[in-house]
Amino acid sequence: MNQPNNNKAHGSAITTFVGGIVILLAVLFLLVKLATSGYYSDVQESSQSATETRIMPAGSIAMGDGTPVGERTGEQIFNKICIQCHAADSLVPNSPKITHNNEWAPRIAQGLDMLFTHALNGFKAMPAKGGAADLTDDELKRAIVYMTNQSGGNFEAPAVGAASDAAATDASGAAAASDTAAAPAAAPVAVAGGADGKKVFEGLCMACHGADSAIPFSPKITHNADWTERLKQGKATLVKHAIEGFTNPKGGVMPPKGGNANLTDAEVEAAVVYMANQSGGNF
Ligand code: HEC
Ligand code: HEC
Repeated sequence: MNQPNNNKAHGSAITTFVGGIVILLAVLFLLVKLATSGYYSDVQESSQSATETRIMPAGSIAMGDGTPVGERTGEQIFNKICIQCHAADSLVPNSPKITHNNEWAPRIAQGLDMLFTHALNGFKAMPAKGGAADLTDDELKRAIVYMTNQSGGNFEAPAVGAASDAAATDASGAAAASDTAAAPAAAPVAVAGGADGKKVFEGLCMACHGADSAIPFSPKITHNADWTERLKQGKATLVKHAIEGFTNPKGGVMPPKGGNANLTDAEVEAAVVYMANQSGGNF
């Protein structure tokens, strides 16, 4: 009579065990479904940008907006990368801020090639390519031109290859910006009329002739030794060289009017006199 009792006890243990497993599986199923439901709804998202991001080849994802590497405009790059340190109200020390023409004038005077070299390789606290290693040379140039043309410059940006429409608007935008920017930049110099040599020097010659300029061959202001031989040529020759430009067979290149074609001869002369007289001259 023990047999049935034993069977009964055995049966109820199995029922409990199987029931436990069923409940465990049900809980796991619900947990998995809960954890993955977000993923499923993302995949169903079909906005254009979501689709573009999903079908982009690996390695070409750049701005997160579907623009391939090499075709980003100066404005796009500026607003994404350079703005961190070059915004008009940036607090980063020493960086020339966009639309602050006075901060840019001496830098612009170096010419686009020099600005590009500095931005490409890095320059003091300016990191190489602004820290964005994937920028192409043309893209970097576009960003520089975008920034400088808002700040008194008048450079031409390399066109955006495939997107000719974008390039056209970019170029006309830059032209419009430089039209408005050029006027106030030139104004203070022109207003000087009698030509304020110090002002012209500080705005347009200092980048290459400042006492601590790193430009090779240029005679630096207050470095009398740099000037002794040059002063012997006389004021007229120095002024002529500054106006017409001067290429020294020994290496240096003084661009005509320091690269500022809109300076009057009188303004250049005033700057030469100012510079020379700070450096041992007596004109
Ligand atoms: C992390 C901050 C930072 C970022 C990001 C940055 N810059 Fe700069 N940049 C600087 C600073 C600081 C200077 C000034 C260096 C000096 O002359 O002391 C500078 C200077 C420059 C100059 C002038 C160089 C010269 O010869 O006078 C150019 C051109 C320039 N940056 C371009 C760019 C471009 C284009 C970008 C975006 C792709 C960029 N920068 C992003 C900090 C930055
Ligand atoms: C982009 C750099 C640059 C800028 C900007 C620049 N210069 Fe020069 N300048 C030079 C270099 C380099 C030399 C030296 C050339 C040489 O090797 O004799 C020079 C030489 C000169 C000389 C001496 C010429 C001679 O016969 O010895 C004068 C004068 C002069 N610059 C005036 C000016 C004035 C004025 C300005 C501003 C309106 C100016 N420079 C802006 C680079 C520059």
